[in-house]
Amino acid sequence: MLFRQLFDTTSSTYTYLLGDEEQGTALLIDPVAEKLDRDLTLLRELGLSLTHALDTHVHADHVTASGLLRARTGAKVVSGITGAPCADIHVKHGDTLRAGTFTLQVLATPGHTDDSVSYLLGDRVFTGDALLIRGNGRTDFQNGNAGTLYDSITQVLFALPDETLVYPAHDYRGLTVTTIGEEKRHNPRVAGRSRDGFIQLMNNLGLPKPKLIDVAVPANRACGLTAPVRARGSFTH
Ligand SMILES: [Fe+2]
Repeated sequence: MLFRQLFDTTSSTYTYLLGDEEQGTALLIDPVAEKLDRDLTLLRELGLSLTHALDTHVHADHVTASGLLRARTGAKVVSGITGAPCADIHVKHGDTLRAGTFTLQVLATPGHTDDSVSYLLGDRVFTGDALLIRGNGRTDFQNGNAGTLYDSITQVLFALPDETLVYPAHDYRGLTVTTIGEEKRHNPRVAGRSRDGFIQLMNNLGLPKPKLIDVAVPANRACGLTAPVRARGSFTH
């Protein structure tokens, strides 16, 4: 398998390209609109055609490229069942997603947002913002719920083998990958912390509102394609 971890410096988002060089197919996880040309160029150079663009959740900090990729490549857009209505395929916990020659298991991991899913491929899990490296996504908007996130992390993700490689949607400190075992031991938010303690912690972070949330959430519910601007002079009132 060809595997690339791509980075957007503006939003600190990781996009993952998984390619099958023999079949010439690929999928992207959490593509970023501003990086459309980068990703299309890379796919072309590697001789891969995109079959699927997966979002782990409706993001609040950047706009997805999934709709643009669909328009440019014919790829199917995949999201969680309560995620972007514009997606072609809505997945839920326990689903098997066949994408090109890849078979991914879908794990519902809500709590950061209510639509968050993780995708498991062999010994790698793509966790979106549910589980970050020594951290986790915030739970104070988009139907976030700290107790639900604690359950997703400790009961769903921590049920995976310790050696499972964890690839998150973001990192802000230069780290790229972790493992389930490492996070069980060293994640300062959850290691040795009770569910009530986690809820208390998450509900008192006092984080500022994400700058792009009012733009990004509606855009991402439309796969990054915002409604066309009404032509000047067409108003009838
Ligand atoms: Fe997020």
